[in-house]
Parts: sequence; structure tokens; C-alpha cells
Amino acid sequence: MTFSQQLRANANLVEGRLQELLGASANSVPPRLAEAMRYAVLGGGKRFRPFLVLESAKLFGLEPSAALNAAAAIELIHCYSLVHDDLPAMDDDDMRRGRPTVHIAFDEATAILAGDALLTFAFEVIGQPETHPDPAVRCELALTLARAAGPAGMAGGQQLDLEAERWPRSDAHDVDRVREIQEKKTGALISWSAEAGAVLACASSDDRKALATYGYLLGAAFQIADDLLDVEGTAAEVGKATGKDAAAGKATYVSALGVEGARERLRRLQGEALAVIDRFGQRAATMRQAVAYVAERTS
Ligand code: IPE
Ligand code: IPE
Ligand code: MG
Ligand code: MG
Ligand code: MG
Repeated sequence: MTFSQQLRANANLVEGRLQELLGASANSVPPRLAEAMRYAVLGGGKRFRPFLVLESAKLFGLEPSAALNAAAAIELIHCYSLVHDDLPAMDDDDMRRGRPTVHIAFDEATAILAGDALLTFAFEVIGQPETHPDPAVRCELALTLARAAGPAGMAGGQQLDLEAERWPRSDAHDVDRVREIQEKKTGALISWSAEAGAVLACASSDDRKALATYGYLLGAAFQIADDLLDVEGTAAEVGKATGKDAAAGKATYVSALGVEGARERLRRLQGEALAVIDRFGQRAATMRQAVAYVAERTS
């Protein structure tokens, strides 16, 4: 199987579970909210974070079925983050995954509530016995996911990302400040995804740490690629408006280092990510391919 076939195969598995999960409680959810949640989650997307959950689980001999709830939960959180990221009060985007954003297709209040509901629902999913037979493992997943998505993680990163629009240019060009934003807003969820397999498998703390570090490095590379696509990609290709970061005055690796400098940083991060998963040998072949993928992706 090629890497893109493996990415697609994992995406199909997680999409099946997301369909089931979002269908299961549909009777007791107000129909417009249920529709907006399904629209936010089921309309495309690369499913890269769930991919990492399933692949990190495979490293320890776990079947995808044993990691599917964790994979679905991180995608629910990611989709919520996109719905809110696109709101007029944040990045004000009309297009996502090649379709109108949730607040355009529905309305702002529904988009806010769909985001709230997806975030909360992710923790309901983690709490289900299907996530893992051991309640202590479910609790650890919930604790670490809350940290990754919360005020010191993704939500905090989004706050810094927005504040940075008003930074003086000298700060927006400070690469350490950019790194802090990216680690929080993007790195934390990707790192959680890469570590999740080790948590599900009750692996050693050294293995957990290695995967968490791999995820941070990969997440930084992933966000640089996103920032480069904003500069170099077309909306038709990437499925969302491009050229918006510079216009909004975002602090990105591209604003800090320029296009060539950002590419150089991306390559360095790729090397570092590969080095930290060396310990897993051939078992990590697909996770090594994921490192190449983040730089090559065109959407
Ligand atoms: C977009 O994430 C937001 C970033 C953190 C860069 P993805 O590029 O994973 O978006 P989808 O899920 O494939 O649409
Ligand atoms: C979004 O970063 C990160 C999160 C949603 C947490 P961006 O604002 O760069 O993502 P896109 O470009 O809108 O997908
Ligand atoms: Mg944003
Ligand atoms: Mg955005
Ligand atoms: Mg972007």
C-alpha cells in the first residue's frame, strides 16, 4: 500500500466511526445542530490526526479497531477548532474543505454551538467503554486531550495567533514567539495524536515521550506547510482561501523567516522527527512516510 492509500484507508475507518457516533444520538439532538455537526465533520478533510492515532497504535500491535474512538475524538476536536477558527470574529473565512464554512452554510450562532457540541462530544466518546476497557486509560486519554485542546494548548494558541495580528512587526518576525503559537495551536493536537497509540497500549514512558516529541516536530512542520500553502497554493487546490495570512498580519514561520527560511526550517524539523522515531525501527515505516508527506502535501 502506498502512503496515500494508507491515509485513505485509515480515513475510511475513522469516517465510518464518526458516522456511527454522530448518528447514534441524533434523535435527542436538535435537528439543526445535528445537521451542522455532521456538516462540520463529514465533509472531507485529510484525517491526518486520526491517521496518527491509528498508526501509533499499530506500532504497539494494536488493531485499528482498538484505537478508533480515540481517533474519532481527536477529529471531533479538530473539526470544532476549524469551525470556530473560521468564524467572523476569528479568521473570517467563507470556504473550508472546498465548501462554505459552517457559519455560512448555517449561521453564526449555530456554528458556535456546533463547535461547543463537537468539543464536548469528543470527551463523551473518550469516556465510552469502547475507547479502552481500562477506565484508567480512558481517564489518561481525557486528561491529556483536555490539556492539548485547552487553555495551555490549542485554545491558548488560537488566542496568541489572534493577538499576534496586532503585534509590532519586530515581534511577528521573532521566530521563538512564532514557535510558541504554532506549538500550542497546531502542535498540541498533533502531538496528542501521535502519543495516543502509546497511551492505548500502556507503553513505556520513554516510548510515549518519543512519540509526543515526534508529534510536536511533525506538527510544526505541518503548520509551516500550511503557511506555505497560504502563500503559494490556490484556493481550488487547498479548499480554503489563500493569501490571507499576510493580509491579516498573522505571525507565521513565513512572516518570520521568509518562504525559503520557512522551507529550510521545515526540512530541519523533518530530520529531527525522523531521528526521534528511530527507536521503533521498521515498525515505524509509515510514520516515517508521514514526515515526508507533511512537506509534499498540496492540500
Ligand atoms: C488545518 O488542518 C488547520 C491547521 C492546523 C493547519 P488540516 O490541514 O489538517 O485540515 P483538514 O482537516 O485536512 O481539512
Ligand atoms: C488553525 O490555523 C489552527 C487551528 C484551527 C487550531 P490556521 O488558521 O492557519 O488554519 P487554516 O489555514 O484556517 O486551516
Ligand atoms: Mg487561524
Ligand atoms: Mg484559519
Ligand atoms: Mg492556515
